[in-house]
Amino acid sequence: MFDAIAPRYDLVNRVMTFRMDVGWRKRTVAALALPGGSTVLDLACGTGDLCRELERGGYRPIGADLSFGMLAAARTDSPLVQADALGLPVPDERIAGVTCGFALRNFVDLGGFLDELARVVRPGGRIALLEVAEPESRALRRGHAFYFGKVVPRIGGMLSDRDAYRYLPQSVAYLPEPGALIGLVRDAGFADAERRLLSGGIAQLLVGTRDG
Ligand SMILES: C[S@@+](CC[C@H](N)C(=O)[O-])C[C@H]1O[C@@H](n2cnc3c(N)ncnc32)[C@H](O)[C@@H]1O
Repeated sequence: MFDAIAPRYDLVNRVMTFRMDVGWRKRTVAALALPGGSTVLDLACGTGDLCRELERGGYRPIGADLSFGMLAAARTDSPLVQADALGLPVPDERIAGVTCGFALRNFVDLGGFLDELARVVRPGGRIALLEVAEPESRALRRGHAFYFGKVVPRIGGMLSDRDAYRYLPQSVAYLPEPGALIGLVRDAGFADAERRLLSGGIAQLLVGTRDG
C-alpha cells in the first residue's frame, strides 16, 4: 500500500493535516532533548520528513522503512536502510534516540516493536513517537471522524490513491486505548514515558527515556 502512495505522500500529508504535521514533527525532535550530533534512528521513515527535521535539529539521523517505494521517493541526505522495525539490523544498546512518525498503527505487533526499541536504545537514550489520536471531547471527536472518514479519503483520492487514504484514518482504531498504550511503552523499558497531546488531541507524542 505504501509503495502505491509514495510519490505523492508528502503532498497529501501536508494537505490533509493543514500543515500541522510540520509543527508536530518539530515538537517530536525537540522532545528528544539529546546532545547535538547524537545518532537517531527514524523508524518507518517514509519519505524522510522526520529525518530532515532531525538534521535541522543537529542530530545524525538514519532512516529505516519497510517500503522500497517510500525510500525511493525520500528527500533527505540522511542514510536510509530498508528494514523491518520489528527486527532491526542494529546491535543491542547502540542507538541514542529513536523517532517514529505516524506508523504505530501500522505495526502488526506493537509490543514487539516497543521491545525492539528497548533492545537497540542505550540506557538513558530517548524515544519520541508521533501518532494521530482521537480527541477526548465528544464534539471534536465527531468532527474528527467526519473529516478523517469522509474528507481525507476524498482529498487522498483526488491527489493519490483513494483506498489507501480510506484505510489510513480507519487504522487509528488499531491503536490501544491511551492508558493501555502508555502502559505498553513503560513496561517495555521506558518507565518515565508520558503521553503529550497535540493540537487539541488530534495527535499525540509518546516520549520516554530508556531505563538505566
Ligand atoms: C503513514 S507512513 C509514515 C511515514 C513517515 N514516518 C512520516 O512521518 O510521514 C507509515 C510508514 O510506515 C512504514 N512501515 C509500515 N510497517 C513497517 C515496518 N514493520 N517496518 C518499517 N516500516 C514500516 C510504511 O512503509 C510507511 O512508510
